[in-house]
Amino acid sequence: MTYQVDDATNRRQFLRFLAGSPVVAFTGLSALAGESVSAPADLPDPVNWRALLTQDLIKNPAEATNVFDFELVARKNVSAAHFGYMASGIDDELTLRANREAFSKFQLRPRRLTDVTRVETGTELLGQRWSTPIVIAPTGGNRAYHQDGDLAVARAAKARGHLQILSTVASTSVEEVIQARGAPIWFQLYATQKWEVTEALVKRAEAAGCPVLVLTVDRKAGRNQETFLRLRRTGPQDCSGCHEPGIKGLVRTKPNFDGIDVSGLSTLESPNLTWDFVNRLKDATRMKVVLKGILTAEDAKLSVDNGVDGIIVSNHGGRAEDSGLPTIDCLPEVSRVVAGRIPILVDSGFRRGTDVVKALALGAQAICIGRPYLWGLGAFGEPGVERVLEILHTELEVAMKQCGVRSIAELSPAFVRRI
Ligand code: FNR
Repeated sequence: MTYQVDDATNRRQFLRFLAGSPVVAFTGLSALAGESVSAPADLPDPVNWRALLTQDLIKNPAEATNVFDFELVARKNVSAAHFGYMASGIDDELTLRANREAFSKFQLRPRRLTDVTRVETGTELLGQRWSTPIVIAPTGGNRAYHQDGDLAVARAAKARGHLQILSTVASTSVEEVIQARGAPIWFQLYATQKWEVTEALVKRAEAAGCPVLVLTVDRKAGRNQETFLRLRRTGPQDCSGCHEPGIKGLVRTKPNFDGIDVSGLSTLESPNLTWDFVNRLKDATRMKVVLKGILTAEDAKLSVDNGVDGIIVSNHGGRAEDSGLPTIDCLPEVSRVVAGRIPILVDSGFRRGTDVVKALALGAQAICIGRPYLWGLGAFGEPGVERVLEILHTELEVAMKQCGVRSIAELSPAFVRRI
């Protein structure tokens, strides 16, 4: 694993990454070719100035002005393969881009002349009150980005009071992460195709004290992560020290599987999940069950009808299928059928406080972030994650005040219009 490498090769790779980055593309500077970078004469107006050379990157979390500042530093620090895995979508990455682009189709309708001196960002999720609606989404293999991995994330979540959802395939066990977080966390479940494995993971999460089980329902088939495959070719080729072949090799670095017999499985995906399975799972645990990966009114209705406790509207950050369907566009139909009966969380593409306000106005009780906190982790470890959370939360407060609302309860679809 490579950290903090700053040799000429990496600088060239990094500049190539910048040249292809949506951040740079947005500025009109995507023609970056070598290290002697200069801005073209026909810069768009307004220009969003960004660091274009490695020496101009932020040097500590305090210098960050937004969450994107961390992405560039993480790209420099993290090996090409690991960064590529994190950044990647599927195929043409239509969904990955749509997740971001769709936010600009929803405009805020701010109200004036309400006293917003004080704003309350608290939200309730399944019987527990949180001071912020920004939740840490489950991501596997976080030690690929920083040696402190999930523990750094847990400490940052603790410092800033965020709910954390831990992945089945986390680099650190659920027990250790709960200890670092100092509070219960939610456990995300990849059920696999073997009930005995499901049962063992559920028992472990329950015994560790997780109050909520988040069943991911959107990973049913293989996927073509082209950005990952391309970037992997640009880095060191020998990954065999950490990545051993086969399912046993895969779970060897995933301690939530310790002691669980995975024989007979070839992947962790679950093409066999059905509503019967959801009901069997509910019967097998005291934990509340939330489904992650719901995108349509039809499945939201079935979730309520089947007694599910909550849903996460998610396309896995553009990593499930390349449907082109952004989650913010799914929220209105999902909220309409759920009608307040169960909590709705949403993720995929959230990068700004205004994104969060739009989702809360459209009926979500909370939003989850994935890559932004991984950028913070890869850039600076725990302090990077903390600063990402701080920036997003501050932007949320500002956006709520500018909209003239003092609490999440005051937000409604009337604060948003779709163009
Ligand atoms: C994920 N995601 C994910 N989801 C899940 O249910 N279990 C998992 O183990 C993982 N692992 C994972 C790894 C990486 C590197 C990424 C980027 C994502 C999906 C994640 O929970 C969430 O849905 C998305 O990350 C949200 O989109 P953004 O915020 O990354 O755009």
